[in-house]
Amino acid sequence: MHADHLTRARRIVEDARRVVVLTGAGVSAESGIPTFRGEAGLWKSHRPEELATPQAFRRDPRLVWEWYAWRRTLVARCEPNQAHRALARFALADASRTTLVTQNVDGLHHQAARAEAGETTAPNDGTTLGLAESAYPLEVHGAIHRDRCSSCGRLDEAPGRVDAESADSLPTCGCGALMRPDVVWFGEALDPDVIGASMAAADEADVCLVIGTSAVVHPAASIPEVTRRRGGRVVEVNLEPTPVTGYADVTLLGTAGSLVPALLA
Ligand code: OAD
Repeated sequence: MHADHLTRARRIVEDARRVVVLTGAGVSAESGIPTFRGEAGLWKSHRPEELATPQAFRRDPRLVWEWYAWRRTLVARCEPNQAHRALARFALADASRTTLVTQNVDGLHHQAARAEAGETTAPNDGTTLGLAESAYPLEVHGAIHRDRCSSCGRLDEAPGRVDAESADSLPTCGCGALMRPDVVWFGEALDPDVIGASMAAADEADVCLVIGTSAVVHPAASIPEVTRRRGGRVVEVNLEPTPVTGYADVTLLGTAGSLVPALLA
């Protein structure tokens, strides 16, 4: 990576009045959470259609819950890294300037913001962080630590440990239906409010930062295209080129943990 690329990218960010950030699994890789694609990606060892679809849950809810319980344990052991923290400092410095949209379900952006704001407990509604009127971050693919009723949609923000040993021990809602992880599965629609707010932020932004995503899963992957189409700039951070690289103003090749703090310093 050339030093002048970093200088150019920093200038683009400095000059922006409104910034939208799109993050993917790569931003959490250095926290120890496996990405989905690539050599050691989660989808290499698990078939998405066996685990992350409504059909799979209907067919074998115990198997699906076993996988999510394993991922919850993994996520619970992980801490935000320097990229999450730098993004949180950047957003806290001027809450009305930045909207952070994440495809990640791990909650690490919010944890980082809490840590940077010096708070130990806060609901994920952004309000206690002073981060504008919207949540930080906008979680377009949901949140793995939350349960949602598969029938009535009731949310449980702080569920207990899931016992996936047998189908009989899975968590159920008061309405009698099974609870499920509050994440978006293949073939499901995104929450219209969350993706709507994300697209609106992309539309208003002078710059879109695209960090650690393979940018192949739509509609999230369209966010930088929206900013671009409205005449905004696009700055990408990734280990390797992606479909965004073709139209990005600058692509910084390297790890998010080192490049994001350098970009936003
Ligand atoms: P992917 O696993 O598809 O892509 C991760 C990206 O991060 C790749 O482009 C890597 O090159 C890059 N990367 C890895 N380590 C990095 C590092 N240390 N620093 C910078 N970049 C790094 O993950 P996503 O793009 O997030 O959806 O995947 C999008 C969606 O696909 C996920 O949200 C998930 C999955 O299906 C759902 O579950 C609905």
